[in-house]
Amino acid sequence: MLKANPNYLRLPGSYLFSTIAKKVAAYREANPDRNVISLGIGDVTRPLPPSVIKALHSAVDEMASEETFKGYAPDLGYEFLRRAIAENDFKSRGCDISEDEIFVSDGAKSDSGNIQEIFDESCRIAVCDPVYPVYVDSNVMAGRTGDYDPQSERWSRVIYMPCTEANGFVPAFPEEIPDVIYICSPNNPTGTAMKKEDLQRWVDYAREHRSVIIFDAAYEAYISEEDVPHSIYECSGAESCAIEIRSFSKNAGFTGTRLGYTVVPKALKDAEGAQLHGLWARRHGTKFNGAPYIQQKAGAAVYTPEGRREIRGLVSYYMENASTIRKGLADAGYKVYGGVNAPYIWLRTPEGMKSWEFFDHMLEDANVVGTPGAGFGPSGEGYFRLTAFGTHENTAEAVERIRRISVR
Ligand code: MLT
Repeated sequence: MLKANPNYLRLPGSYLFSTIAKKVAAYREANPDRNVISLGIGDVTRPLPPSVIKALHSAVDEMASEETFKGYAPDLGYEFLRRAIAENDFKSRGCDISEDEIFVSDGAKSDSGNIQEIFDESCRIAVCDPVYPVYVDSNVMAGRTGDYDPQSERWSRVIYMPCTEANGFVPAFPEEIPDVIYICSPNNPTGTAMKKEDLQRWVDYAREHRSVIIFDAAYEAYISEEDVPHSIYECSGAESCAIEIRSFSKNAGFTGTRLGYTVVPKALKDAEGAQLHGLWARRHGTKFNGAPYIQQKAGAAVYTPEGRREIRGLVSYYMENASTIRKGLADAGYKVYGGVNAPYIWLRTPEGMKSWEFFDHMLEDANVVGTPGAGFGPSGEGYFRLTAFGTHENTAEAVERIRRISVR
């Protein structure tokens, strides 16, 4: 008898950004004369940097010749890219990560959704609340999260670690000990970032309790403050307790091109000594045929001197938007967080408005799309996220509109 996976059937609603996309499409259809500005999903708007475009063209040309044509890519990634990653993202920061601990993939979203497959169904996961929804959803799909309570919007086996104004958006250690701890810093959605000493405390905690940290560093390029670590491996002992996920989407604009990677150090073992590196390699070998050569060449271009300069330009372009949003909304009386080490601004909704109510208000009265904080978890209620990934013009216009309709 054919039976659908019951775990999937238990997922409430659709994926957050699909829900928003549907609402916005319906609004646009009903109001075709309105110019709706999207600062909702964290999708980039600047074109790919010239050195990346050049690398893409030349890799395409290689595909046209019998001598240089490439078929299947190595499933863990081409050596030229893994070497560039190890040198530039880790060794240059004093992190002891070697190229064969790096797994190139088609993006950080798939890696952050798939990585839970190497853990037993019995493992308890802990997430920051609010949280990037992929971490929880992918564990629901794996049957690891217990029952859903629609009242509290919580899963019974998930350990939620509130990140609020009160704790400076840094999670406290939970009462129950988790097996797998998800940490995203700089954080999506709050736009705040952990200081090195805070992250070191988490690394020490994970080592003491034999837990693993899945560290999502997709927004690393946006760090502007000295005491914020770019990689978890800057913390001592992290190679034995942490997996790190990185993206080319937010720094180099690969949201449509797709490329990312995950680091699984060889020193990382489960309680019985099984090496997680081998399990993730086994998973890649079976389920993945490697990121395309063309994309990997484009990824390597990101690490060239021109590529690095161009990426700094992209990051500062978006961070100008972050500053426009922060200043504009603070002047209008909003309480704003983030936007200093991350391309997200997290604002308190005015007058205790519910975040979906504020979403409707923004869409209908300002024609601006943002993301309701409640979509990221119970502690996101009463907050709203705006991204800095728009154009300068749209960002300035959106801020102006929000100020005009401000209900304060
Ligand atoms: C977001 O808006 O949270 C991100 O763009 C989603 C993603 O990167 O998958």
